Amino acid sequence: MAPTKAKSSGVAWWRPASVWALYAVGLLPAVWYFYLGATNNLGVDPVKTFEHLLGIWALRFILLTLCVTPLRDLAGINLMRYRRALGLLGFYYVVFHFLVYLVLDQQMNLSVVVEDVIKRPFITFGMIALVLLIPLALTSSNWAIRTLKQNWIRLHRLVYLIAALGTLHFAMGRKVIGPEIMFYIAVCVLLLGYRLIRPKLMERKRARKKAARMQAGVKPAR
Ligand code: HEM
Repeated sequence: MAPTKAKSSGVAWWRPASVWALYAVGLLPAVWYFYLGATNNLGVDPVKTFEHLLGIWALRFILLTLCVTPLRDLAGINLMRYRRALGLLGFYYVVFHFLVYLVLDQQMNLSVVVEDVIKRPFITFGMIALVLLIPLALTSSNWAIRTLKQNWIRLHRLVYLIAALGTLHFAMGRKVIGPEIMFYIAVCVLLLGYRLIRPKLMERKRARKKAARMQAGVKPAR
């Protein structure tokens, strides 16, 4: 019997395992902050601190998701198999962040939450980002990718808007724009800006590859 690809390469088993490991490691900050909160070690305002830390991790994972394509294009580092996990981790952290806001910060007072969403623009942007993330999370399966085809690609472009809204929400929520926010804004602008120039860049790359192939094909005939 011919050996399967996984057996013959001897390395393929770690690929799905590494994705699960990413989920586990990615959720560690949430578990750690929860533990710190439960043991009264989150400072003078534990609810705000918990909310903030989860919000920061949400933004980090969303921005990390957007790093996958430029890393592959520009540095040849292929982390494509981790992209879904990074995106879903971003979604989970936004949900945790929202739940802390809803349950611990606002004590489930829905009228205050609705008022906040309507009256405080930074909460409005956060809420829009959360709502937009839901269809992306629901269509993150291989089945959805196969079924939706081109529409899946179109739908998942919403992640650019989500990243912009998340970053804006972060910046507007703070009274002072310090170096930390500047850093996230710069990363977000770079990642979104890259998407604007990417089609031209890829076109050039393809043309270069084609020319190199043609050259390689012509040479032996000389
Ligand atoms: C993609 C969605 C979201 C992202 C990426 C995000 C991220 C963040 C970040 C990074 C912070 C600041 C943390 C800090 O100052 O250290 C923050 C603060 C906050 N977010 Fe979100 N958030 C999102 C959605 C939401 C939603 C849906 C709500 C509630 C409806 C919300 C409510 C808040 C509140 C109340 C704060 C604290 C502001 C303060 O009083 O200092 N966020 N968020």
